[in-house]
Amino acid sequence: MSATIGIPREVFPGEKRVATVPDVVEKLIKLGFQVKVETGAGDAANFADDTYRAAGAQVVGSAAELWSGSDIVFKVRPPTSAEVGLLREGGTLIGFVWPAQNPELMQQLAARKATVLAIDSLPRQLSRAQKMDALTSMAGISGYRAVIEAANAFGRFFNGQVTAAGKIPPAKVFIAGAGVAGLAAIGTAANLGAIVRANDTRAEVADQVVSLGGEFVKVDYEEEGSGGGGYAKVMSEGFQQAQREMYATQAREVDIIITTALIPGKPAPKLITADMVKTMKPGSVIVDMAAEQGGNCELTEPGQAVVKHGVTIIGYTDLASRLAKQSSTLYGNNLLRLAEELCKTKDGVIDVNMEDDAIRGLTVIKEGTVTWPPPPPKLPAAAPQAAKPAAPPPAPKGHGHGAGEPMSATGLAVVFGLGALAFWFVGAHAPAAFLSHFTVFILACFVGYMVIWNVTPSLHTPLMSVTNAISSIIAIGALIQIAPPESGTGGRPDEWIRWLAVVGIALTTINMFGGFAVTRRMLAMFRK
Ligand code: NAI
Repeated sequence: MSATIGIPREVFPGEKRVATVPDVVEKLIKLGFQVKVETGAGDAANFADDTYRAAGAQVVGSAAELWSGSDIVFKVRPPTSAEVGLLREGGTLIGFVWPAQNPELMQQLAARKATVLAIDSLPRQLSRAQKMDALTSMAGISGYRAVIEAANAFGRFFNGQVTAAGKIPPAKVFIAGAGVAGLAAIGTAANLGAIVRANDTRAEVADQVVSLGGEFVKVDYEEEGSGGGGYAKVMSEGFQQAQREMYATQAREVDIIITTALIPGKPAPKLITADMVKTMKPGSVIVDMAAEQGGNCELTEPGQAVVKHGVTIIGYTDLASRLAKQSSTLYGNNLLRLAEELCKTKDGVIDVNMEDDAIRGLTVIKEGTVTWPPPPPKLPAAAPQAAKPAAPPPAPKGHGHGAGEPMSATGLAVVFGLGALAFWFVGAHAPAAFLSHFTVFILACFVGYMVIWNVTPSLHTPLMSVTNAISSIIAIGALIQIAPPESGTGGRPDEWIRWLAVVGIALTTINMFGGFAVTRRMLAMFRK
């Protein structure tokens, strides 16, 4: 029987987002689901009940009716205890849950024998998971909105101008933390014409900062800041001291500071001290995007905009909700992609497949059993890693060793011994004509292996499309065949071969141009 997806109105005070939008409703129905929406659920995000009805959803009058009539509930904010009480026994809940921060909620949900997919627990490093990555979509919107909030509170233009009334210098913006939100803020502020500088403890983001129009400001202290999976770690006292000095200099120079620095599972690092705020020019603005996790600035008041020492300090914790139409649309699309993964049969029946790395990571409760935290995903992190001392290339798979597990010296000697023996056998017995081809083949294997093994996993897809394009070199074979037959060898069979070669060339052309075009588009995604 096909399942009903329910979209309740968000009850968290001030929350304007809604978990799905009319466009997505249509697609959910195509997947075989029925959709129910609580009346007024989309009002704050400018999606009226009628637009949901027009998309094929049934609009119901109360929360109780919505929750009791839905097999699966899509939510934005974690449910309140009252909402958990309304969830059907054995029902499915999909939304932000934050299991580490909400142990009580987890217990309540488990007691309802629920299956819970926490979108915040998605293994973001899997490239397949990117389409479902609501943390990234929300962070991107928040970063944009942080700049807009700063511009609103700031008394000047962002861009420099020369007018009859005088010359106006561009505003200087400093961004602390260049993750997803920080990069969005850099791009937005640079587009508005400001001079943008940024700092992050992960050195690998420097290129991304520059590509978005910012300048990367380094801390004068050598320490690697990556804590794994693309996230940061807590830095040493020495680094923090050097970083504070650099931030103090920036605070004196810039007009706007936007802070986004977070470390998973830890309170936000305090980067902007009260003394730094005092040295900022009057009328300056700080937007502290880490306010919910305690703030990056000592003077931030979460949820508030306050003026201290002449500086406006904005600690709003609802930046994504302030662009409710945009964030609901992206969030709705993220959940649609998840629904597609859960319902590959397109018959409205979901399969929470715990063998699938992405689904396993998301599922924090399965039929009443808490399954959080998940085991680490089998794939290596896709996030670009900072330069590490060169590791020896991993041994080829298929010798009974787990991925990444180094082979013992004896094992290696045995493999090499067997390989040498096999080569000797081939060399001693194979005809000479075969040997030259065989040598080229072995060399090609070796070069291919060395090339692919040293590429970051996140670049494997563009690599595949570019190798696909390069493989069109077989067009040369077809081109040779298309040449007119040498005199004396003409006749019917050659005509056939030439026509086949024409078809071959047409197909490889598509492969070649298509491959390069796809690679270009993919690499452009990495540049953004
Ligand atoms: P986040 O919200 O946890 O942190 C924000 C930023 O603050 C990070 O860039 C972090 O390095 C920085 N930071 C932490 N402590 C700092 C300090 N003391 N001083 C200065 N900066 C500090 O991270 P977010 O934005 O959710 O993701 C971070 C990174 O994870 C992304 O830039 C990306 O490389 C990676 N990622 C990879 C994905 C993938 O591979 N598919 C998906 C999502 C993120």
